[in-house]
Amino acid sequence: MLARGHGMSIDDIAALEIGTLFAALSNSILAAFWAIYHVYSSANLLGELRQEVCSQTKGKKILQGDGEEKGDSRTSLLASIVKESIRLHTGGATTRYATRDTTLSSLSSSSAYQHREYLLKRGSFVVIPTETLHASTSLWGLSAEQFDPYRFCKHTNGIKEDGTRVSGTAFRAFGAGANICPGRFLALGGIERVIEVLVRDWEIKPVSERWTVGRGLADDVSDTVIPPDGDIEVWITSRH
Ligand code: HEM
Repeated sequence: MLARGHGMSIDDIAALEIGTLFAALSNSILAAFWAIYHVYSSANLLGELRQEVCSQTKGKKILQGDGEEKGDSRTSLLASIVKESIRLHTGGATTRYATRDTTLSSLSSSSAYQHREYLLKRGSFVVIPTETLHASTSLWGLSAEQFDPYRFCKHTNGIKEDGTRVSGTAFRAFGAGANICPGRFLALGGIERVIEVLVRDWEIKPVSERWTVGRGLADDVSDTVIPPDGDIEVWITSRH
């Protein structure tokens, strides 16, 4: 109704719906893959996460939505791992169209940054590559290109090695502003629940005994999260 109210044709609405469906599913699956990979490829991290998950879910029917308190999921190790996996493996770009001449100026008072102004001419496209921002050491600190499972935990959230804070707008995997991904809470929560069940009940080990996988090519326009460069064959066995 909303799209029709804005004069979109049925064909355009259908194309938009299908595109959204692909983007929503493929990004969530790729993000879940990287989170599972990072957890299971580190015995220490897996052990620590198991402790957290089992202490929070002991005796509770977590899959049946019984509404019981499970601690603050936003600051848990699990939530941090999922967000960090998405931060590290996100490609894509936020794209915007300048509807009028607009001047952007840096507001930073830090002496490390020179005051700069940029004029965006009306009718131009602005493409902001997420991967570049997520790999920036000035935004994230020296560990910007490494996987840090504790990066978004409560005690470390937003603090760089030099003690300064990470900007609240540095995490761009879900875009920003009026068009920020409306499915982000569903995606984060869904991946966390999948990993909760996996680490509690299942062992996953690579058939080759080595977790070797690299970054593939983000050659699908609907993928914001970058896929791996190949499959990993694994053994999945019950812990019970
Ligand atoms: C890890 C999973 C996901 C990632 C990384 C992701 C990422 C993104 C990004 C980068 C955008 C563009 C935002 C912008 O232009 O500022 C977007 C838009 C959107 N996403 Fe997601 N997304 C994910 C999951 C989902 C899910 C599960 C849904 C729906 C159930 C969803 C629905 C949408 C919709 C409808 C838009 C368009 C918003 C608009 O243009 O106003 N996404 N997403």
